[in-house]
Amino acid sequence: MRTILQAENLEKVYRVGSVDVHALRGVSLEAEEGEFIAIMGPSGCGKSTMLHLLGGLLTPSSGRIVIDDEDLTATTDARRTDIRRRKIGFVFQRFNLFPTLTAEGNLRLAERIHAGGDGGKDDPERRREILRLLQLEDKMHHKPLELSGGEQQRVALARALVNRPAIVLADEPTGNLDSENSAIVLNMFQEMNFRFNQTIIMITHNPEAAAMCRRIIQMRDGQIVAPGPRVQI
Ligand SMILES: Nc1ncnc2c1ncn2[C@@H]1O[C@H](COP(=O)(O)OP(=O)(O)OP(=O)(O)O)[C@@H](O)[C@H]1O
Ligand SMILES: [Mg+2]
Repeated sequence: MRTILQAENLEKVYRVGSVDVHALRGVSLEAEEGEFIAIMGPSGCGKSTMLHLLGGLLTPSSGRIVIDDEDLTATTDARRTDIRRRKIGFVFQRFNLFPTLTAEGNLRLAERIHAGGDGGKDDPERRREILRLLQLEDKMHHKPLELSGGEQQRVALARALVNRPAIVLADEPTGNLDSENSAIVLNMFQEMNFRFNQTIIMITHNPEAAAMCRRIIQMRDGQIVAPGPRVQI
């Protein structure tokens, strides 16, 4: 089993005016390739902050993050952006789809961005596959305004995953979805995890979603209080 992501003693302090907010107080975490991990904990305990740090969207106040043997915290901004683009897929609760592009067009755009501007691999099969997994195949030519909220959320998810990133970081991916849409999304995560061995780290408030994961990490007050059992896979 190979460690794909490693965080050591992460601290994050936000400064608001003259007040310091200690969002993370020494968090350490390791994820093996192909793990499916849930992060749970009360509002404000630092879950999103941690996910943003792991993905290189924020820099820690102190501590170290290593992704695929590369130290994210000891490299240039350009290199960090490159690692993020190639290896990490982010799923946010809020989605910013391109309104003038169809569902498929939004995925094609993600392929281009992933490739860093050289056009990228044009892979209609892969686009169709992820849209099929999310039950959006018949909506691929619809623009965002021609889709329901749940469908838009699923297109945003497809966009984050179309390049099959090694690591998927998801911040409450089912937070705004009804049970039917949630089930589609969770099944898709399971299938991607199983078929492509993608490592998934998912913040969730939903115990049913967490129950699908092999490991549940509990956070409280900027710390991990229960790292959860490491199940051999
Ligand atoms: N940009 C910011 N500037 C200042 N403080 C922030 C910022 N982002 C988050 N915080 C604070 O850091 C702490 C952790 O926030 P974070 O968003 O990581 O929590 P969370 O566990 O994701 O909560 P939720 O479940 O509500 O999404 C909170 O006290 C929050 O108010
Ligand atoms: Mg959050």
